[in-house]
Amino acid sequence: MAEPFRIGLLGHGTVGGAFETLLGERADQIAAITGLRPEISGVLTRSRGNFEQILANCDLVVELIGGLEPARDHVLRAMRAGRHVVTANKQLLSHHGEELWGVAREHGVQLRFEASVAGVVPVIRVLQESLAGAHVERIHGIVNGTTNYILSEMARTGCSYDDALAGAQSLGYAEADPTDDVNGKDAAAKMAILARLAFDTPVHIDQVSYEGIEQITADDMEYAEELGLGLKLIGTAERIDGRLAVRVHPAFLYEGHPLASVHGPFNAVTIESSAITEITMSGPGAGGPQTASAVLGDVISAMIPPASTPETTQALEIVDDVESAFYLHMEVEDRPGVLAEVASLLGAEGASIKSVVQKGLGERARLVMVVHPLLESRFFAAVERIGALDFLRSPPRAIRVIEEQFV
Ligand SMILES: NC(=O)c1ccc[n+]([C@@H]2O[C@H](COP(=O)([O-])OP(=O)(O)OC[C@H]3O[C@@H](n4cnc5c(N)ncnc54)[C@H](OP(=O)(O)O)[C@@H]3O)[C@@H](O)[C@H]2O)c1
Repeated sequence: MAEPFRIGLLGHGTVGGAFETLLGERADQIAAITGLRPEISGVLTRSRGNFEQILANCDLVVELIGGLEPARDHVLRAMRAGRHVVTANKQLLSHHGEELWGVAREHGVQLRFEASVAGVVPVIRVLQESLAGAHVERIHGIVNGTTNYILSEMARTGCSYDDALAGAQSLGYAEADPTDDVNGKDAAAKMAILARLAFDTPVHIDQVSYEGIEQITADDMEYAEELGLGLKLIGTAERIDGRLAVRVHPAFLYEGHPLASVHGPFNAVTIESSAITEITMSGPGAGGPQTASAVLGDVISAMIPPASTPETTQALEIVDDVESAFYLHMEVEDRPGVLAEVASLLGAEGASIKSVVQKGLGERARLVMVVHPLLESRFFAAVERIGALDFLRSPPRAIRVIEEQFV
């Protein structure tokens, strides 16, 4: 039997509730990896639990209350009592990071905060560990999903800022009071944390200038599109002549920029350094289960030093015949019935055609189609039969299509 590892959970809202659920689902596997079985030994909300008792009965504290107080007080007391702390609280770290990191150092405990910036995108760990040896020159980030969703919708539909905001609220991508998201303050807190880590210098949120997206009009978006530009709320932290600039403002990007293709409520961070050129990470920036996953990753890291050798906790079968969508390109003779014959051979294997384009005439006739996902073995069986048709002028070419668009 694995020894229990007791977690004091402060806050049981969107993220705290999702964290408890996820921990319940993953506890066995974590026990198999770490030899310790994590369990929640106490929960604090406004109406439930007692902080002193929770602290006395836990090995680690997870702070998911949010805001400055009482979160700061509880985190400080937990660390002074020798507990590791995991938090998702960007406000707390961007205001009181130096004090908190100082106390963590003094008491030899870990203060982990992966979920405080860009949700589940592992940017904190990458800056603190993987890129610890890189001399970071600049960070660009889309670190607020609400504003990225609003700008994406304005660009996609041509709607006004107000309509896009109302849509974001109805889908749960924006809060009833979206002020701190749309005015750039939320992103500023996250950029202060990223800059602190990337440039090894204290950065307080008051040192981050920020501007929001409230003034952006449908006109701006229309012209931008004509010019091949996309508009994003971008956080930037960069070295300039031995100094540091940290700011958040709307900015246009050309299509080729790695952040230009980040749409909807997603977050992404680009880190630039002469040694690494550029690394971009993107993923969900918020949401209960997503944020809880980042919090749990921090808890596991605090329980045991990160493993340098992978553990085996299960034996999964390796599958080699999977479902894929396909692009199929055929050079065909220009005569009636070609499409019907190809479609019938595909249909016999259960393949259905999503879209089809017929191009060129005579010697140059081409038939190009995209086929809905099906087992690869069945698709290739159909392609083999298609390849034997007498009207094909060369072997058919098939390329897999990744259909996911994540927005
Ligand atoms: N939601 C997200 O998608 C997301 C993403 C990234 C990071 N985060 C961060 O995660 C943290 C938690 O966010 P959340 O969305 O889960 O917040 P939430 O849904 O508002 O939940 C907050 C929890 O804290 C409790 N609480 C509030 N004030 C308290 C006090 N004075 N004493 C004791 N408990 C108190 C609340 O108690 P009651 O239940 O009694 O109200 C509630 O259980 C925040 O730092 C937030 O910035 C959230």
